[in-house]
Amino acid sequence: MKCEKDFLRVGVFDSGAGGLTVVRSLLREGLFDEIVYFGDTARVPYGTKDSNTIIRYGLEAIEFFNNFDIDILVTACNTVSAHALPRMREKSDYPVYGVIEPGIRALENRIQKRDADILVLGTRATIDSARYQRELHNLGYERVTAIQTGMFVPVVEEGIFDGEIVEAMMRHYFRDIESAPDAVILGCTHFPLISTAIEDYFGGKPVMIHSGDAIVEYLESHGLSPGAKRDTELRIFASDNVKGLREIARNWLEAEHRR
Ligand code: DGL
Repeated sequence: MKCEKDFLRVGVFDSGAGGLTVVRSLLREGLFDEIVYFGDTARVPYGTKDSNTIIRYGLEAIEFFNNFDIDILVTACNTVSAHALPRMREKSDYPVYGVIEPGIRALENRIQKRDADILVLGTRATIDSARYQRELHNLGYERVTAIQTGMFVPVVEEGIFDGEIVEAMMRHYFRDIESAPDAVILGCTHFPLISTAIEDYFGGKPVMIHSGDAIVEYLESHGLSPGAKRDTELRIFASDNVKGLREIARNWLEAEHRR
């Protein structure tokens, strides 16, 4: 890791707007001088696509970031992290980090009891990949429930973070859960924006694992601590409607800021 460099530029890749929740964590910690964000808004959602398509999109993102002289790439998208990381790493000249391993490490740092109830939420493609479930089982966590909750994605994209609609969806998705879990892994870029609603639904009990905070912790623990906090410039690119994405960025980064 090039933390001794004067100027650090990170690429952040997501299927659309959701990765801005990861950007927010990076901005808050001031780890980088520049963030180049690319949201593939023309093809979102990835969570409903099959593995080969997600890999192809991931490789195309590497081509995009090759134009920017980035020091590292963070794949904010859990779906891409679950399917495409090894192939993306083969194709890039810079380190590529996903969010699944950091999420698992963040959980391990907070929940030591191996019989804790862990709830993993993600898109269909993320949950089908079984990446979270496998890694948690390998670490000895025995009680893991994974649920596809992809319908939260368009609702969050609409700017709805709580209230009746979110409540109804939680009642639907969590109908078989008998008692509040000890931890919830928010295994999708969009879910941090409804983290408070989910936490409240479970009576405030679970530890909430957020990909953005997890990747910051992970990068810091892997030697990327620049000493002084940096003023970060954020540049936003999109495959469709970049103006709309910049507008969402303004609203979301503010909404998260208020929390
Ligand atoms: N960014 C995706 C993820 O974190 C959610 C949106 C999508 O399905 O593309 O899994």
